[in-house]
Amino acid sequence: MVTTQRTKEICQIIRLKSTQVFLVAGSCLVTVMVTLLCIGFMTRYEVENEVANVADVDYWKDKVATSQKIWYDKGIDELNEALRPTDFTYPKNVRIFVLQGIDGRDLAGLRFPNRDTSRGNTNFIWDRFPHLARLENSCSQQFPCEVARVSRAFWSGIPLDKVPESQEDCGRAFNATQTSISILRQAQLAGLRTGFVTTQRITGFTGAALGNTNGNFECNERMPRSAIESGCQDIAHQLISGETGKSLNVLIGGGRQMLSSLVPNTKYDPVDELLCESNDGRNLLKDWRTQKLRESKVNPIIFDLIQRSDELDSLNASSFDYLMGVMANGDLSGNSKAPSLKLMVEKSLQVLNKYKQGYLLIVEQFIPSGVDKREQLQLLNDTLVNLHKDQETLTLVLMTSAIYPKASLDVSEETETISLLPEIFNEPESEIQKRMYQMPSESLLFAQGLKSPIFHGVRKETFLAHAVSHVLSRSRTQT
Ligand SMILES: *[C@@H]1O[C@H](CO)[C@@H](O)[C@H](O)[C@H]1NC(C)=O
Ligand SMILES: *[C@@H]1O[C@H](CO)[C@@H](O)[C@H](O)[C@H]1NC(C)=O
Ligand SMILES: *[C@@H]1O[C@H](CO)[C@@H](O)[C@H](O)[C@H]1NC(C)=O
Repeated sequence: MVTTQRTKEICQIIRLKSTQVFLVAGSCLVTVMVTLLCIGFMTRYEVENEVANVADVDYWKDKVATSQKIWYDKGIDELNEALRPTDFTYPKNVRIFVLQGIDGRDLAGLRFPNRDTSRGNTNFIWDRFPHLARLENSCSQQFPCEVARVSRAFWSGIPLDKVPESQEDCGRAFNATQTSISILRQAQLAGLRTGFVTTQRITGFTGAALGNTNGNFECNERMPRSAIESGCQDIAHQLISGETGKSLNVLIGGGRQMLSSLVPNTKYDPVDELLCESNDGRNLLKDWRTQKLRESKVNPIIFDLIQRSDELDSLNASSFDYLMGVMANGDLSGNSKAPSLKLMVEKSLQVLNKYKQGYLLIVEQFIPSGVDKREQLQLLNDTLVNLHKDQETLTLVLMTSAIYPKASLDVSEETETISLLPEIFNEPESEIQKRMYQMPSESLLFAQGLKSPIFHGVRKETFLAHAVSHVLSRSRTQT
């Protein structure tokens, strides 16, 4: 009896002790775990927010004067940006903003209005993009060169001197197995959504190159009868009936007078007499609509054709599969009621984001001579500031001088007539200097977002197409 009682007591003590031990050990474990969790969270927080202060970034702090040190310390943010580890993921979307008519020299001058330092940092938003490449302008070596070919070199990724001359014989030009395709078409074939927005007419040199069209005639007006009879088509026709144009989810710009022979000629949007005016009774806008109606019988697609700024403004674009906007008879600069770049880009992105399947958007802001360049830069700045911050997107801003001395067959205003090189070298030195200054300068390419580090150094202009093709091809295999 006694032994049993004793055993019971011992057992109770032991149980009590072990409970205590468990309690102590348990609380220790919890403390350790909480601490570990906290450290984990702190580290993540710091990595995510890139918390870094002046103390973290080393430099020869004790070797510089105090008056110098202020400025070195101020540079830490920029250093941190440069030291940021590489992100290996690829973007799902690429948007390219092309400014035609601004070069490095313009940008440097226009960044500082009136030398008014009291306004603080008025840098443009792309000045804060982390990466920058300089694209050589091969037009400088092949002076003079044809504007249409420069555009084809850019968007197809083949060097300027290898871009085929525009052919009179359409039979050969239309051999599909031989025709190079633009980066936009490549994206379409890979299953991405695509868009082209321009403040120029959609049949301009960028539209022509992106749309894989042949020849130099924007509409039928100046096209030789023999060319028409041999089956050649003008750019407007090819853009509406070609595979690239038909697959474009967004196509917004000017050019009504190339697409239709009967256009309203108003005070605020006059027919541009300097540009091609179609006169064969065509209505390619109607053709586009008919084409899409036919398609909608097979696939349930939502589409619209709009021609006024207020129509665009009230459009719930996120439900659309296809959007065509023809907003002026000629270029948008000719229409005082044309929509803003900001509105056009906003609506385009809504269309392109519909299925979140990835997109390539190319936006061209064309700056005709005589237009206030600073105002144009401001417009682009405002457009970019308003863009939805998108973690999956690579944003590129390309500035090109757009001085191309040789007009296409179809004479257009953007081609400034500068005489040929041999003549230039027979001129006095001062004149040569002046002309050299007018030569097309290199383009600047600012990059922000995933994979922006690949845009660096001095590259050929074909690099843009190659790089975009690489980036987007990887983005598809990831998903
Ligand atoms: C561009 O936009 C940024 C961001 O809103 C602003 O800080 C900057 O002043 C703008 N630049 C100009 C030149 O307007
Ligand atoms: C098109 O190009 C291919 C490849 O060079 C060639 O074999 C074919 O004969 C060409 N077709 C025509 C109609 O010229
Ligand atoms: C716009 O369209 C989307 C998709 O169809 C729909 O969810 C949304 O409610 C619409 N917004 C408005 C304001 O009608």
